[in-house]
Amino acid sequence: MIATARGRFITLEGIDGAGKSSHLQALQAWLGARSAEVLVTREPGGTPLAERLRELVLHAGMDPLTEALLVFAARRDHLQQVINPALARGACVLCDRFTDASFAYQGAGRGFDLGVLGALETWVQQGLQPDLTLWFDAAPPTAAARRAAVRSPDRFETQDEAFFQRVSTGYAQRAGADPSRFVRIDADLPREQVWQQVQAALESRGPW
Ligand code: TYD
Repeated sequence: MIATARGRFITLEGIDGAGKSSHLQALQAWLGARSAEVLVTREPGGTPLAERLRELVLHAGMDPLTEALLVFAARRDHLQQVINPALARGACVLCDRFTDASFAYQGAGRGFDLGVLGALETWVQQGLQPDLTLWFDAAPPTAAARRAAVRSPDRFETQDEAFFQRVSTGYAQRAGADPSRFVRIDADLPREQVWQQVQAALESRGPW
């Protein structure tokens, strides 16, 4: 039997309102035209257990350590039940948020210990990292205006601009520490130009 090559793992990141989710369908279609299987998922979430944890993380009050443990507990279940098996069968996995969000939101945003987050990352991921992370970098006021236009806010979306400024800085630090994995997308631009940058990033990292 010929062993299947491990599939590719792509994550989308950015502050709430940066617009990443609005490109998810187009990304799925673009990858679907080039890969035998594309699996689209999200964090926190992606399994029945992790979706229940997502509800708690987004809507129940809790301290920063509890919040960090819950997002990594959800991630562990998601990796074991969905992501790792999909990568093992050669699928392309497209995940709306992953561990960079924990460093940006729990770490930079809430001020939670980055060393503990790093230990959880090591334990939970066992060396797995995304092959490509598209970081939708929008200025906090742009993102706040987009959020206001579309939805009722959760525990993160009600935070003030200073929080999102810290989250943004957290993403910049993660991107700076791993430049070969990250591609920064200028998400302040109009939608069509954002999509062009996404496509260019994918083309430069292919074949898919
Ligand atoms: P989001 O991905 O923006 O979903 P929606 O578009 O449905 O609002 O919401 C997920 C929220 O969870 C977002 O505010 C960031 C937060 N989050 C963390 O705080 N830590 C994490 O590790 C992850 C994955 C998400």
